Amino acid sequence: MIDTLLLFGATGDLAQRYLFPSVMHLLRDRLLPETLRVVAIGRTQHDDDGFREWLRGKIRPGSRDRDALEDLLARTHYHPLDLNDSEGMAAVLSRYADRPCVSYLSTPPNLFAKACSGLKIAGLLEPPSRLVLEKPIGHDGPSAREIDATLKANLDESRIFRIDHYLGKATVQNLLALRFGNTLLEAVWQNRWIESVHILVAETAGVDGREGYYADYGALRDMVQNHMLQLLALIAMEPPSALDADSIRDEKRKVLRALRPMDAGNIGSDSVRGRYDAGVVGGQPVPGFKFDGDVETFVALRGWIDNWRWAGVPFHLVTGKRMTERNTEVVINFKPVTHWLFERPSQDNALRNSLSLRLQPQETIELDLMGSLAAPEFGAMELQPLALDLSMAQPERRIAYERLLLDALNGNQTLFVRDDEVEAAWRWIDSISAAWDAAGTDIRHYPAGSWGPGEAAAFLPPDIGNGASSR
Ligand code: BG6
Repeated sequence: MIDTLLLFGATGDLAQRYLFPSVMHLLRDRLLPETLRVVAIGRTQHDDDGFREWLRGKIRPGSRDRDALEDLLARTHYHPLDLNDSEGMAAVLSRYADRPCVSYLSTPPNLFAKACSGLKIAGLLEPPSRLVLEKPIGHDGPSAREIDATLKANLDESRIFRIDHYLGKATVQNLLALRFGNTLLEAVWQNRWIESVHILVAETAGVDGREGYYADYGALRDMVQNHMLQLLALIAMEPPSALDADSIRDEKRKVLRALRPMDAGNIGSDSVRGRYDAGVVGGQPVPGFKFDGDVETFVALRGWIDNWRWAGVPFHLVTGKRMTERNTEVVINFKPVTHWLFERPSQDNALRNSLSLRLQPQETIELDLMGSLAAPEFGAMELQPLALDLSMAQPERRIAYERLLLDALNGNQTLFVRDDEVEAAWRWIDSISAAWDAAGTDIRHYPAGSWGPGEAAAFLPPDIGNGASSR
């Protein structure tokens, strides 16, 4: 395992909320090498001790983490650097080229190229050293290709790790286990039995503090291009022949390439764009997202996968900021039984089977079936919903980045996104953005604390759609 981790963007939000705490947990659980050293790089001026003090103030260790936090701080060195100055950066960092390293660029994508050339000059990209990149990879297909060309000029694909933290979430990995570890589900995993698929990422948080970034990206590029399309690809892919990185990524790429591009003809019926106004979330009044430009904080899409397995099955993708509640889930809705035998409930009132994989706020999996109360005193047979909890009890809930950091240090690319997946995802996203332009699609406004614009009701999972009258 590589034992030098260079963390760029070390004073940023992601680093303090997730990356450093992840390293701390891995140290606590003795999953990292004894010799681990962490090199933190940011723009703010600090010396080592100053940075350690700053970081100590940002991380709230649990009672089991206190020693690990001190351990982490003792192993961490800090360098304030301007990434636009490749030579200057290389002069400072070349001292770490004595051992292979993993460089993690948690920076805006416009700094990737410069950072890469600094690392190259410093000797930090020599094999087997690796590079980890945070999303977004570009703003559209052409800019992603440009970034990719710069990366490839410095190192090959086998050492480039494009992170999508959704792939590190336990439920996502359970999805693979459920699908491919059981005959039961895979047998019905197709258009003959599945009516629709919903992927919902509803957040109560707003854009606050990230206006600059968000104004350029919006919900489509911030959430759909990566996290949601990765979920879709894992749900829809064919069974891979093995669990190695390329076997899985080959299958995901095929799904992404089979997504039907949108155009001005179908964009009106298959998408809704929204932006939140002031409202109330969790009992607190919150301001709206004020911005003059053309950017959405909510998007609802109906995607179609043009292949044998999924022909005719709509995939509904909905994500929004400042929604009623935090809820990230995948819901697979099965078709109704072909012939209904029961008086109670009537066929119209019978619940369909569904499988819900929840990622937030809890990580759970539930299969909804119908059962009956069979004793004689109940008279006629009456079907009742029967919810089966399929969640595996996890010893503790982990930060998704823990798993991914470990995989990057170990050189396992299975849960990282390959160049051709990024390309295929942008192809679909670019078609949506071009179709919005061509059709002049309006941004609908919704009050903070709601389930989005009313026009999007039909895109929401049924359990949310049914109770949506207050929307
Ligand atoms: C990030 C997005 O990638 O994912 C954020 O940039 C979003 O806008 C976040 O809030 C959601 O992640 P999670 O794990 O909290 O669902």
